[in-house]
Amino acid sequence: MSPNRLAIIVLAAGKGTRMRSDIPKVMHKLAGQPLLQHVLAICAALAPDRIVVVVGPGMPTVEAAAKPHAVALQAEQKGTGHAVGAAQAALADSAFEDVLIVYGDTPLITVATLQAMLAERRERNAAAVVLGMRVARPNAYGRLMLDAEGNLAEIVEAAEATPDQLAVTLCNSGVMAVDGAVLFDLIGRISNANAKGEYYLTDLIGLARSDGRIARVIEAPEEELAGVDSRALQATAEAILQGRLRQRAMASGATLTDPGSVFLCADTVLGRDVVIGPNVVFGPGVTIEDGVEIKPFCHIEGTIIRRGALIGPFARLRPTSEVGAGAHVGNFVELKNAWLGEAAKANHLAYLGDTEIGARSNIGAGAITCNYDGYFKYRTVIGEDVFIGTNTSLVAPLTLGKGASTAAGSVITHDVEADAFAIGRARQTDKPGYAARFRDERRRAKAAAAGKKE
Ligand code: UD1
Repeated sequence: MSPNRLAIIVLAAGKGTRMRSDIPKVMHKLAGQPLLQHVLAICAALAPDRIVVVVGPGMPTVEAAAKPHAVALQAEQKGTGHAVGAAQAALADSAFEDVLIVYGDTPLITVATLQAMLAERRERNAAAVVLGMRVARPNAYGRLMLDAEGNLAEIVEAAEATPDQLAVTLCNSGVMAVDGAVLFDLIGRISNANAKGEYYLTDLIGLARSDGRIARVIEAPEEELAGVDSRALQATAEAILQGRLRQRAMASGATLTDPGSVFLCADTVLGRDVVIGPNVVFGPGVTIEDGVEIKPFCHIEGTIIRRGALIGPFARLRPTSEVGAGAHVGNFVELKNAWLGEAAKANHLAYLGDTEIGARSNIGAGAITCNYDGYFKYRTVIGEDVFIGTNTSLVAPLTLGKGASTAAGSVITHDVEADAFAIGRARQTDKPGYAARFRDERRRAKAAAAGKKE
């Protein structure tokens, strides 16, 4: 057996009734990703040998999100101690030196804090290390009772606490690192003879002490340990996470003119010397390369933006798109499943969907790819150095060869060969003097109508 084997149990069986939702609590999102995904990413950073996610019945979305990790079913929610017990079978084939227990709804905890807990457990040979926090109004949190040596004597749940114990402000965050050699023995000895009739994981501390083992506390800021238990707490956690993501973006060399109005996703990748104006929102799957400028009021998801491109203001970039190096996507331009070559330009008022646009091509204002007939989607392939005239409708499927050009206002319904000029619109006819005659006639009609009314 390797000496440093680590298993992590993620508790996620709770229904989260306070969210008032049909979606399991851990599937609610922060920065574009489910809470569980955040927690699993933090766990993965510790390089554990195994992760087990404890789920409740009828949670297929949670089970799917837990993959490729092991899933253990807690058929009935009988408390946190019972939930950890549900993970035993998934860990039974191996011995683990440490078992870390985290909550699936506590996504702001840092890797450094968890590492500090594991280090403390090993250095002190503690049966358990509990992550504590100082809370001004602790309400329902379990209270951490220290002994004269500063070791953790017991955790008292609020429902069981005396008034003196309730006055303690050092609280249990719920996160615990436990000696893997004794964890399930202790869990098996927890009873449910308490106010809630639940198997409290927290009773593990008192049991370990009665076995002559010590338990320790590591403290972390309350902000790191905030659980997402209601929509209001979700909003608070989102604000904290966005703050962190903005700091990370700036630290990696991006300028955020008004950081508080830029919303990032947990997976947003920003290069150096990227400039992001106010009110820009990133959905999942965005990579921005070096030197890109994103002007205000853009919404970007599922898109790669190559070096030096210029986006916005007011651009909407949808999955799965790519904007080439030095390309321009201007105001009120929407891309959907669109690939723009190097230095291509779509500067104003265009919809470009299911399309490929070659290098240096220019898409005029108001150009639209007609990609959908109500049943199927079709592609438009535009070669290099093509000029699409203002207000062109490109009725897909369609291919325009290199160097082709379309006349303004055209409806293009069939392929255009390289270097050809395509016009698809009614020919203009002029009627000299007609406008003046029309005006005179209308004025007279209007005056006659007004006379009749009087
Ligand atoms: C628990 C702690 C309390 C601590 C608080 C921090 C116990 C007995 N109490 O409170 O000391 O201050 O967390 O938030 O441990 N869960 C299951 N199955 C269950 C019950 C819970 O998976 O049967 C999961 C929930 O999904 C959640 C976590 O465990 O992720 C905590 O459950 P919750 O009911 O919020 O905590 P409490 O027991 O009230």
